[in-house]
Amino acid sequence: MSVRTEEPTKTMSPEAIEQDALDHVWIHQAPWSDIAENEGMRVFSRGKGTTLWDVRGREYLDGISGLWVVNAGHGREEIGRVMGEQAGKLAYASAMSFTTEPAVELAHKLAEIAPGDLSRVYFSSGGSEAVETALKIAKQVQAMRGFPRRYKIIARRGSYHGMTHGAMSLTAARNENYFGPFMYGVSYVPHPNQYRSDFGLEGEEADVMAARYVEQEIENQGPETVAAVIGEPISSAAGVHVPSKKYWQMLREICDRHGVLLIADEVINGFGRTGTMFATEQFDFQPDILTIAKGLTSGYAPMGATIVSPKVFESFKDQKAVAMGHLLTFGGHPVCAVAALKNLEIFEEENLVARGAEMGVYLTQRLEELRAHPTVGDVRGVGLLQAIELVQSKSKKSKWGKEHPFAKRVSELLMERGFITRTWEVMHFAPPLVVTREEIDRMVTIADEALTIAEKEHAKELED
Ligand SMILES: Cc1ncc(COP(=O)(O)O)c(C=O)c1O
Repeated sequence: MSVRTEEPTKTMSPEAIEQDALDHVWIHQAPWSDIAENEGMRVFSRGKGTTLWDVRGREYLDGISGLWVVNAGHGREEIGRVMGEQAGKLAYASAMSFTTEPAVELAHKLAEIAPGDLSRVYFSSGGSEAVETALKIAKQVQAMRGFPRRYKIIARRGSYHGMTHGAMSLTAARNENYFGPFMYGVSYVPHPNQYRSDFGLEGEEADVMAARYVEQEIENQGPETVAAVIGEPISSAAGVHVPSKKYWQMLREICDRHGVLLIADEVINGFGRTGTMFATEQFDFQPDILTIAKGLTSGYAPMGATIVSPKVFESFKDQKAVAMGHLLTFGGHPVCAVAALKNLEIFEEENLVARGAEMGVYLTQRLEELRAHPTVGDVRGVGLLQAIELVQSKSKKSKWGKEHPFAKRVSELLMERGFITRTWEVMHFAPPLVVTREEIDRMVTIADEALTIAEKEHAKELED
């Protein structure tokens, strides 16, 4: 144990807090050396709406809602108040055999707002757990229906579904060198991508081919071995691709025809992010299993859920003494449940879904202006889930490539100007649903400036 040289946080200097963070906090993704040697550690202390402040008092625009999380915006004291009250009343009851009043109320509410007849809720502590739960439900239900050999899962290449072992098996960022072998029986199909189609097609035709590919994969694997297909209705971390309605309608029909369950991962898409409460609504289809997290509590408490239709739950009702082979100690935690309930109350009172949709239309308009840049190949997205794709050549749609410093340089320039987002092949724009027009204007102005500077610095490498 190290000895503190200064009093705890409140009286420590910002520099000392940052040093303490460098010494003891394991930052999840950024390599330690990048933070320690180049970028510096940023420790946040306060937030309100779309704005964040760090311990040095520097102000930032949160252009990605934390990580597509804080849909209701930062600094909602009313959510904190109900959490405190609930903790004083009842902080925990076993999730193994019991539940609590807030969890019941939340499950009821989710059954009301979830697409179609999705109405049975398995609570967890986040998105990865929600995905793990979905995978296990799919496999166990197939076995209980008399198909024990249906264990395979089909995912889309480039997707992100979480970092626990099963979820990571479905995820592009899985690292075989450290963690392989991954879950057996996962195969990948192309993502719907109208900008750079794997099939050299455009528009809806590209999506139709991507859907046909799913069917081909089911047939190649042998339909009698496939448990489920999983995908985000609109890809998020994978580059924000909005498929045509036909894609999801075809997938629904293909899955039904082959007895395969369809899992929609709305961990990011859900709770107004795409301009509707759930993105599936925009494609007129109902998945068998839906995963949610993030916006469920707007980040005020860690919570996820997996919601299934009565038809999926039927097997557990019909077969005596059979439960899911699954247990999460904190599933349905009452303090998290009241945070989710209050969050959803705020959504209703402030009409946040409609507000997000309206701001999304404005954001699209403003982002379209960035197309004038030689490196902005595409502008896409819906609601407040949007992105611009950064390319080296517009005509060839060529990528800068992972090793090239262009995207990193743009990130630095954005950060120096107080705009937080994620920039890699694409630059994400996903502020809280409470974002104002003026804040959108500032984000776009900063992005414009950062691109202009980085393009000048790399002018010789621009291909057209
Ligand atoms: C689509 C999707 N599913 C699942 C997850 C995993 O969620 P968590 O990080 O809460 O475990 C994420 C996280 O970003 C996600 O984007």
